[in-house]
Amino acid sequence: MTDRPTQGGADDLPEHVRRNRAAWDIMAAEYEAPGRRAWARTEPDWGIWGVPESELGVLPDVAGLDVIELGCGTAYVSAWLARRGARPVGIDNSAVQLANARRFQAEYGIDFPLIHGNAETVPYPDASFDLAISEYGACLWADPDAWVPEASRLLRPGGRLIFLTNAATLMLCSPDDEHEPATDRMLRPYFGWHRWEWPGEASVEFHLNHGDWIRLLRRQGFEVEDLIEIQAPEGASAQDSPFVTAAWARQWPSEEIWNARKRA
Ligand SMILES: C[S@@+](CC[C@H](N)C(=O)[O-])C[C@H]1O[C@@H](n2cnc3c(N)ncnc32)[C@H](O)[C@@H]1O
Repeated sequence: MTDRPTQGGADDLPEHVRRNRAAWDIMAAEYEAPGRRAWARTEPDWGIWGVPESELGVLPDVAGLDVIELGCGTAYVSAWLARRGARPVGIDNSAVQLANARRFQAEYGIDFPLIHGNAETVPYPDASFDLAISEYGACLWADPDAWVPEASRLLRPGGRLIFLTNAATLMLCSPDDEHEPATDRMLRPYFGWHRWEWPGEASVEFHLNHGDWIRLLRRQGFEVEDLIEIQAPEGASAQDSPFVTAAWARQWPSEEIWNARKRA
């Protein structure tokens, strides 16, 4: 195992990272079984509706690429990429998520470095990677003003950043009780998004509107090449999630995938 040690002490971490570490060390239990199912799938699929990679075409040819997964959790995305010939490294803020990831590595016989740390400060030199990827990871739980510049630093010129997070439309229409499904009304202003705390939740999220994502990415040296707004597939109605129904997500995007290239 080529794991690197935990960075610094928890006291050195920003407040939102400390809070999310504590929250994710608890939430990890709920992610173990879905993580195992995702490790078992050989074709990547994306988001809560499980839309196959063959339909969305998110990934470039990753064979031979150095990849950093920012907020890898159980690291199934890295496993999918390793099976396609990439050399992934996963970083995650939760030791419990990483313990599950290490168990799955052993079960599936796929090994790659896993780092316990904050994706806003990754212990790798500049220009170490060709692809940075995050699926509901740092892109949702870390400060974009910190993790996007860090992704840019880590990427080689021409490298690619791909991340999947909640769609802006979902954030507009979700009630304050995050366990209630999204409504067909805009429930909050669209402007000024950044740090996001759901009432009663210990964790801290970050969401930007589309204009703010584009401006941040461009400032950090990226060209936005695609924004895939995921539509729930026909017949997905059996798979309603606690925060969005399939009927809703047939009409409006509940998830979005940003694909940006670092300027050469
Ligand atoms: C929903 S999981 C997504 C990961 C993976 N796709 C999965 O489902 O297991 C969110 C992950 O982001 C991690 N995370 C949150 N903040 C982070 C940060 N600042 N740096 C690295 N990882 C972070 C959490 O520990 C958690 O494992």
